[in-house]
Amino acid sequence: MDKRVLLAKPRGYCAGVDRAVVTVEKALEQYGAPVYVRKEIVHNKHVVETLSRRGAIFVDETDEVPEGALVVFSAHGVSPAVHEEAADRGLRTIDATCPLVTKVHNEAKRFAREDYDILLIGHEGHEEVEGTYGEAPSHIQLVDTAEDVDKVVVRDPSKVVWLSQTTLSVDETMVRVRQLQERFPDLQEPPSDDICYATSNRQTAVKTMAPECDLVLVVGSKNSSNSVRLVEVALQAGAKASYLVDYAREVDEAWLDGVSTVGVTSGASVPDILVMELLEFLAERGYGNVEEITTANEKIAFALPRELRKDMVR
Ligand code: F3S
Repeated sequence: MDKRVLLAKPRGYCAGVDRAVVTVEKALEQYGAPVYVRKEIVHNKHVVETLSRRGAIFVDETDEVPEGALVVFSAHGVSPAVHEEAADRGLRTIDATCPLVTKVHNEAKRFAREDYDILLIGHEGHEEVEGTYGEAPSHIQLVDTAEDVDKVVVRDPSKVVWLSQTTLSVDETMVRVRQLQERFPDLQEPPSDDICYATSNRQTAVKTMAPECDLVLVVGSKNSSNSVRLVEVALQAGAKASYLVDYAREVDEAWLDGVSTVGVTSGASVPDILVMELLEFLAERGYGNVEEITTANEKIAFALPRELRKDMVR
């Protein structure tokens, strides 16, 4: 049996994650430990453990941060209430919210100002959704499942817009949008795609390789929305099996039984070193032939948060 690996490109770190991780690293260099971080800076176990060892302290809420200390807000964004709480406690803050999440916040604020009912497609309980919702709670309703579509109540069906979380499945979101359109034919679209370039590019790469794969391994953490979506997309696109692993050591050798082609990719919060470790693991088991499947070349990069930049140039 010929054994080979198809390696998706793009995969791994997106511009927003890179910026958020570098923000914590630079804050540690600039101000020294400890640097508090509200929530996981990005949803990846390895990244959080590595930064913790270097002096970052991860907390759930700002009330766990000592008064006057420095706190970084994660890439997923925070609601205005969190900014206010931090200001009330005299915390120094650096906002590492991904600019593409901020873009969705700004859309929510704008449509709320214009008094639209906003239908926010996203996963209940996800930090990004909580942050966006907090921008205009009186105007936003969350739509997660098909059942949620039936529950939506709007004041004026001609003044309704949908927005979404940045890390959803592109195909499933369109299914949800079509269901909403059936109820609200005048439903307006977001001004530009809310699902970000990184999420959709990683899904396209997986879709392209999955039909050829007996198994698709996605490196990523279970609380990483875009990583979990990659497993679903792989299965929908024809992979016979697909699993999410944080580390190569989590691969069950039985998954490789009778497998000729293994697809490999990683979520937007995953450093490539973890993918390289998985490739080594696979090579040791006869899967040394690796072919990269490139569906896009990403060149996007974001400047570091202003609060940090101003101190760095001093
Ligand atoms: Fe931003 Fe998309 Fe990454 S919203 S953090 S570029 S997954």
